[in-house]
Amino acid sequence: MSIIFHQESQQFHLCNSYISYIITVLPNGELGNLYYGARVHDKTDFSYLAPVRRRSLTAYTNGGPDGFSLQYTRQEYPGYGTSDFRYPSFTISQKNGSRISHFTYQDHRIRKGKDPLPGLPATYVDDPEEAETLEIMLFDPISETNLTLFYTLFLQVPVITRSARFEQRGPSTIVLERALSVCVDLPNDSYDMVHLAGAWSRERHVKTRSLEVGVQSIYSLKGTSSAEHNPFLALKKKNTNEFSGEVFGFSFVYSGNFLAQVEVDSHSMCRVLMGIHPEEFSWPLKKDEAFQTPEVVLVYTKDGLNGMSSIYHRLYRTRLARGYWRDRPRPILVNNWEATGMEFTESHVLALAEVAKDLGAELFVLDDGWFGKRDNDLAGLGDWYVTNFNKLPGGIEGLSSKVEALGLRFGLWIEPEMVNKDSDLFRSHPDWILSTPDRFASIARNQYVLDFSRIEVIDYIYGLIEKLLSCNPISYVKWDMNRYLTECYSRTKDADYQGTVFHSYILGVYMLYERLTSAFPEVLFESCSSGGARFDPGILYYAPQGWTSDDTDAVERLKIQYGTSYVYPLSSMGAHVTGVPNQQVGRTTPLQTRGNVALFGSFGYELDVTKFSEQERSIVRKQIKFYKNYRQLLHAGTFYRLLDPFLKEQAAWMVVSEDQNEALVGYYLILNKPNHRDCLLKLTGLNPDTKYEVSGKPGVYWGDELMFCGLSVEPEELIPPDRDFSSVIYVIKSAM
Ligand code: DGJ
Repeated sequence: MSIIFHQESQQFHLCNSYISYIITVLPNGELGNLYYGARVHDKTDFSYLAPVRRRSLTAYTNGGPDGFSLQYTRQEYPGYGTSDFRYPSFTISQKNGSRISHFTYQDHRIRKGKDPLPGLPATYVDDPEEAETLEIMLFDPISETNLTLFYTLFLQVPVITRSARFEQRGPSTIVLERALSVCVDLPNDSYDMVHLAGAWSRERHVKTRSLEVGVQSIYSLKGTSSAEHNPFLALKKKNTNEFSGEVFGFSFVYSGNFLAQVEVDSHSMCRVLMGIHPEEFSWPLKKDEAFQTPEVVLVYTKDGLNGMSSIYHRLYRTRLARGYWRDRPRPILVNNWEATGMEFTESHVLALAEVAKDLGAELFVLDDGWFGKRDNDLAGLGDWYVTNFNKLPGGIEGLSSKVEALGLRFGLWIEPEMVNKDSDLFRSHPDWILSTPDRFASIARNQYVLDFSRIEVIDYIYGLIEKLLSCNPISYVKWDMNRYLTECYSRTKDADYQGTVFHSYILGVYMLYERLTSAFPEVLFESCSSGGARFDPGILYYAPQGWTSDDTDAVERLKIQYGTSYVYPLSSMGAHVTGVPNQQVGRTTPLQTRGNVALFGSFGYELDVTKFSEQERSIVRKQIKFYKNYRQLLHAGTFYRLLDPFLKEQAAWMVVSEDQNEALVGYYLILNKPNHRDCLLKLTGLNPDTKYEVSGKPGVYWGDELMFCGLSVEPEELIPPDRDFSSVIYVIKSAM
């Protein structure tokens, strides 16, 4: 089982124990899709799945038998205008102005393993035996362009990754006006589209809608993946729930402008397109130049939405996130942002660190405000070499050494892609920002975006951060990005190349991440973008955890973390306990519940820990001890969503260890009800034949009992009992 080519029928069958994906060379030489879904037995010819049928008002294309049209043909990577009128995967503008092309099959290559994508984040294998890759080579003789389609089949999981590469062979320059990563044509439209939408402070809320004839899409044109939409969508059957039913998942490993679109045509066929948004994109290719698209990770499962999530979690935790921190326990941190903002003194910061140490934390993070004239957001960004000595008399060097001397690691906030007008950097290089000549450059949070499509800008910023990290004991970096891109124009590029700037910007971000993570492999990078505005698989390749949202209210976080878990593993979600009333929504929730929500993530605290009462200190000590005991389980176990906070005033989720001997269940009562009914919470993922002990409850329970009869959540087990925003964590262990 793997990738099979049937020479006679010219069909490729990619199959493992879970999935089949069947591609054919169509009668006109282009590539068609015959099937994608649950695994089927192989045979030499599946061509009956692509019948040729004459229909009225249909155009017939060059090549192929009488009546062969692309209009109702399922394709792999279609162009527009040669009898297919749906949105295409690519558009190439040629010297004579034509956008018509005809890429036909030339050859293919099947090999073990998976190669990296140059300059781009991508999933990888640790051992070539984990996957097989198919490259299909196509050629358009008029434009003299090569097109290679890449398919990697992971052999032990229902995952296929796809991307495309264009290479110009002919003497005339072509312009890619659209170069998406994937097209998947499905034969019917009986699906709901599931995606993650939101805004600042309410990122990645789950949205579900029925497919309708026409086009439905989500996208970003903000220069980052954005808080508004995540580069992910799933198609699920109407009766699919969390644990059973068909789901097709599509996740884009990219951090910039994207389009994820589903088109349902008049014959109820369904075309999914995903890739770099074609708006504001154009990429000239001269002879011998190539363009590689980022990859899309396709998951197919019959095990429901949670089944899909588990596949993404494992893959992204172990075959997308990389490096020293991939498998290591993440440090419990205390960050000063919600405690002090930018108004701090060294003594206050050290007092926070001392208490953090006493409570059991492992890392202290100094957030925004330590550099340049940074007393508010009007100044300083870009001046990473100037410490604000008014606040830190001994500079970063002095503070970091003192924090280390306490027995804590030290972490620092930076925002490398940005510059304030009031900064030495802007005064010396006003032309280094993205802005259109003679026009107003829009300001957001009083800052401009540096032109990361320019290597000299990246070199300069790299030099500053490299010095910072080499000269100080810094173990962690919070890389923030607090505005979207506007007037996205690069001063050094010719007119014909302005359409490359959005994508080149992201390539520049990736390059800086690559250089820094290579030079400082043991530094833990946490990505951030006004909270979760760039929380995507592309960034996860460089930074194994991200700040999930600026909204740290426990109730809001239930929804945000629940939605984020559709694709992203718990280890990737920075989650902190903050003060009350909450700074974003003014809600007061118990300290226990704030901890019980945050521990299903990469855990920390972000409040003035010096103000804790003795009782609070004791609660926090217990929380930290608990997290240390279970962080391996929380990060490496299988996560299950049990009760949906988007539907109820309750939420519940759990994590089960791989050997099914241990589990943690979190139950959260959002709004209490008088005289409420009993709650039997049906667990999942346990071994039905194992006897378990449940913390706080007498006796033992069979796995099947907990899963099918349910775990009885008693009101008095909740902390605090019978109140809004109460919660309980159950520890479940197999009884010896
Ligand atoms: C936005 C981040 O999301 C916050 O956590 C904090 O780091 C601020 N930026 C600092 O300016």
